Amino acid sequence: MENSVSKQNKRRDWALIARFTKGSRLSFLTALLCSALVALADMLSPQIIRAAVDNALGGLPADYPKPVMVLVSRLGGFEYLGEHIWIMALGLLIVALIRAGSQYAFRLCNTLAAEGFVKSMRDSLFSHIERLPFSWHMKHRTGDIIQRCTSDIDTVKNFISEQMSSVFRIIVLLALSIAFMLSMNPKLTAIVMIPVPVIIVMSFVFHSRIGRDFLACDENEGILSDMAQENLTGVRVVRAFGKERYERDRFEAQNKYYTGLWMKLARPLSVYWSVGDILSGVMILLSVVFGSKMCIEGTLSSGEFLAFISYSTMMVWPVRMLGRMIAEMSKAGVSLGRVAYIMSCQEERPSEKALTPPLDGDICFENVSFGYEDGAPILKNVSFTIKSGTTLGILGGTGSGKSTVALLLDKLYELAPGQGRITIGGVDIRDISTPYLRQNIGMVLQEPFLFSRSIAENIAIAEPGAGPDRIRQAAAAACLEETIEGFSRGYDTFVGERGVTLSGGQKQRVAIARVLVGSKPIMIFDDSLSAVDTETDAKIRAELEKRFGTASIVLISHRISTLSKADMIIVLDKGRIAEAGSHEQLKAAGGIYGQICRLQSGAEEGGI
Ligand SMILES: Nc1ncnc2c1ncn2[C@@H]1O[C@H](COP(=O)(O)OP(=O)(O)OP(=O)(O)O)[C@@H](O)[C@H]1O
Ligand SMILES: [Mg+2]
Repeated sequence: MENSVSKQNKRRDWALIARFTKGSRLSFLTALLCSALVALADMLSPQIIRAAVDNALGGLPADYPKPVMVLVSRLGGFEYLGEHIWIMALGLLIVALIRAGSQYAFRLCNTLAAEGFVKSMRDSLFSHIERLPFSWHMKHRTGDIIQRCTSDIDTVKNFISEQMSSVFRIIVLLALSIAFMLSMNPKLTAIVMIPVPVIIVMSFVFHSRIGRDFLACDENEGILSDMAQENLTGVRVVRAFGKERYERDRFEAQNKYYTGLWMKLARPLSVYWSVGDILSGVMILLSVVFGSKMCIEGTLSSGEFLAFISYSTMMVWPVRMLGRMIAEMSKAGVSLGRVAYIMSCQEERPSEKALTPPLDGDICFENVSFGYEDGAPILKNVSFTIKSGTTLGILGGTGSGKSTVALLLDKLYELAPGQGRITIGGVDIRDISTPYLRQNIGMVLQEPFLFSRSIAENIAIAEPGAGPDRIRQAAAAACLEETIEGFSRGYDTFVGERGVTLSGGQKQRVAIARVLVGSKPIMIFDDSLSAVDTETDAKIRAELEKRFGTASIVLISHRISTLSKADMIIVLDKGRIAEAGSHEQLKAAGGIYGQICRLQSGAEEGGI
């Protein structure tokens, strides 16, 4: 079972590579061809030297393939070449130039292909992530997603641009060297090749063993940078609680562990490289010892001897790299799997009917029950109606499900079949086009988020076409005008790391202005006035009433004064509607609302 899943995953990963190499296949093929040409050029130089030594200078009879013999006779024959040895030197130069040209074309095509591959992969990954459901984002760590989009993609890119082509070149080089050596002397070839399988197997076993340690190093490096990043973003908490020492100790402990992992690797790595050196030395030694012996016996010519030494020296590095490359490819496989996982996650499903009805009708929650994935039920049989153009206030304890109501109305989470329905103007929101629905609902989330852009851009984020006047009006309605005019660059002031830092209340007001820029038929304010003082709260509410008499509004708050003007208020208690009615009715009923009312009016009178 597990095997078939992993097979399926492998197929999925390769399908991904095939998909993203689509536009750059020709470049890849050209790169591979050039790579093979480089390897061929590497093979030719020892052959020219061999011919120069044996046939041109040594006068030995020549027995080369026909095209070579034709070329030599066109050039005047070996005797002539021996007298004009510079022609053979020129041959070496031409081969070197061909090699350099092929190498240049290889690098160019390979880089173009790899960059094209990685660009299309990054683009698709980003747009795919943008389309993944809200619930997916809630479930996955942002740091992890970023790592998959950056360093994992880089590893895959290395695999495509370096490892794949290197393995190809190494295999071509090995095959050609063996073929050339066999054509000269099969016996000596067999002797020289003895250490090759040993080196490859050793290198492969070593790297696949040590691969796990490399992975541990990678993971621990991730933990270390996560720690640093968390400390930088949470610097206020660290300072406010005087936790610098604790955090430093934690970092130092992790750093020590991470360094220890590399130290542990130092010994096996040194052993591996030294043993590899010895085996490579043995390979060259074998060609020297047995080659010279055969030379003396007369079964090998001096030119062949020289060529053998060249080939065996040339083979040492690729042979040693092959095992390492193959092991590193498995690392790339892990990264590819991590990227492919994101790509395989289901995007938000578009609604089948994709209706676009007017959204200014009554909003009805009919027996809505909802629980987050694998969690306890959060909303239990919730039913209420927001009459068109009226305001619904929602009060309730922490975790009672208020924000969940807002998220469900915006279709950020979908209701399971049979768990009730939400309708707007009588149409089930499941049948309404999701982008259309969201465009028509202005929502101020409980935790406002501002982008590192100008204040004007932040306000106009949902309405890119909004001119300065509309932005200004929205800022005025959110009681933000004075604050913005206080900044030297006004609406062009940058927010965030490169600009001003706004207070919690100011941030909330920018988020409110963002919604007020467009005139949406439905607006949701999730605890959006919690960080503003009661006076500003009252002003903003008055503005809302004045401007948006026709919109249906959901106002979520812990503050009775914010909710008291709402046409209807529901009190949520552990996911159920405990009370519903107008402010006066609920106050008179003396239930939860009445109690909170008394507590809060007492607090206000007491000056809290
Ligand atoms: N993405 C989520 N995954 C799982 N459980 C969640 C998720 N979001 C909220 N919950 C749980 O659902 C319950 C209701 O959360 P919700 O945010 O709706 O409460 P709330 O009434 O808005 O609270 P508050 O007044 O603190 O904002 C809580 O118990 C919370 O732990
Ligand atoms: Mg909430």
